[in-house]
Order: sequence, then C-alpha cells, then structure tokens
Amino acid sequence: MLLRRQSQFTTPGRGEFEGVADFYDHLMRGVPYDEWVDYVEALLHRWEARPEDVLDLACGTGQVGAEMARRGYHVWGADLSEPMVRHCCRRDPPVPAIVSDARALGLRSQAFDLVVSLYDSLNYILDLQGFQAAMQEAYRVLRPKGLLIFDLNTIRALSTEMFSQSSLAGPDPLQYNWKAQWKARERICRVDMWFAYRHPDGHFEEFEETHYQRAYTGGEVTGALRKAGFRSFKSYHAYRFTPVTPWSDRAYYVARKE
Ligand SMILES: C[S@@+](CC[C@H](N)C(=O)[O-])C[C@H]1O[C@@H](n2cnc3c(N)ncnc32)[C@H](O)[C@@H]1O
Repeated sequence: MLLRRQSQFTTPGRGEFEGVADFYDHLMRGVPYDEWVDYVEALLHRWEARPEDVLDLACGTGQVGAEMARRGYHVWGADLSEPMVRHCCRRDPPVPAIVSDARALGLRSQAFDLVVSLYDSLNYILDLQGFQAAMQEAYRVLRPKGLLIFDLNTIRALSTEMFSQSSLAGPDPLQYNWKAQWKARERICRVDMWFAYRHPDGHFEEFEETHYQRAYTGGEVTGALRKAGFRSFKSYHAYRFTPVTPWSDRAYYVARKE
C-alpha cells in the first residue's frame, strides 16, 4: 500500500518524476548501479559497518535498493514521487517503499542500520532548512552506529550545463531535449525537460517536466550533519577514497550516528 504523508514542505518542480517515471529505467539503462553499490559496500568496509536493514532514501524506481536486496540486505524505500514508488514496489526483486518526504519521513525511529541516498536525490531539496531536516530525519531513523551514505552533485556539476542534453535522432523510442539554466546567486539549476515516447503502434506520447537541483557547499553539508547530531563524517570524490576537490562533479558523504 502506498502511504502519502502530509508534509509542511513544498516542492517547486513542475511534475517532477511523474511522466518520466514510466521511462526512468529505460533512460537510466546505461547507469552502472551495480558498480555504485560496489562502491557503497567498499565504503561500508572502510567504516567497518555490516548493516542488515537498509533504507533507500529517495529510492526512485528502486534500482539501488534492488541491487542491495540481491546482495542480501533487507531493503525498504521512501520517495516523494508516487509513480516512482509504484515502480519500486513492482520491480524484481520488489523493494517495499512508501511515498514520503525525506524532510519528514513517515518511518519509525531507529529502524535502519544504513540510510543510502544516491544519484543526487538530495540536491532536489532546495533550501538549507529542508536539507537540514533531511539530515535530522536520517539521524532519527538510524540505529546507534548506523551509517548515512549519500551523494550530491557539486557546484561545478550543476553550474556547467551538464543537464543540457538531447537525444532526438536514432532508433531509441524515447527522445528528449533538456535545457539547463544555472542561477548562481541561489545555486539552483533549473532544467526544462521535454520528452516524446514512440509507442509500438507509432503514436508519440509527449510530456514535459521542470526539475530543480540546488548545489550545497561542503561547509553547508557538514554543518547540517553536525546539527543533526552526527559526530563522525567524511566526504569523498565519488567512486574514489580521496577528498573532494574543486573539480569533483559528485561528492559522496558518509556519516555515523554514535
Ligand atoms: C534522480 S532520482 C534518483 C532516484 C534513485 N535514487 C536512483 O538512484 O535511481 C531523484 C529522486 O529523488 C526523489 N526526491 C526528490 N525530492 C525528494 C524528497 N524531498 N524526499 C524524497 N524523495 C525525493 C525524486 O522523486 C526522485 O525519485
């Protein structure tokens, strides 16, 4: 059953992860989710953690959660988008998930050994207060010694037109055209997305979404972690074990609840 929890927060994106939900796995078919989970497991090893119960936070269609379930973890998911959650619950293996806002999770306290949130999901929270709330919620649902692992697009990634992309030719039935605009003062990247899917009978289904992501500085992230109660935390240049640099496109954060 899908539960929708009332939230005091608002989300400005137009139809974010609604129309695209049915095509998300197709769109992401080149994403090496198994290698991302290899990296998460390498981080767990470094932090000497052996989690059993895992929350895939902002799980989307559950690709990370399903890969972890295949590796023997007990995984649950939570995501703001109901269409994404439907796909998550139906995948193989299925990942039970609820519709829930990372800033106000409808989940009981101290239920998980690991909260993992990948693919820049937390960049979708557009203000520091909301980001802070998400860190507090992750802290609350973790058991003592539990780990929070998440990635974020950096300022460099969001300010360099990375999201201006298109695929308008070729045999792929899904065509798209995305235009990104960076607002430096707010550190927010707006992406206007147009999609068209060619069904087997030849008719095209068109839809549009507007997505917004905010870039957080390292200081903002570690400040939010500290305020939430985390005392040990570290950031990494994605898929390495070296520090984040001004040239990093993606940063990983690991934080432990003492
Ligand atoms: C780029 S997708 C990543 C999905 C998934 N983590 C993956 O790796 O494929 C970002 C996801 O974050 C979710 N999301 C955005 N804001 C959220 C929030 N405040 N609380 C929970 N989920 C959120 C979206 O609905 C979407 O499914």
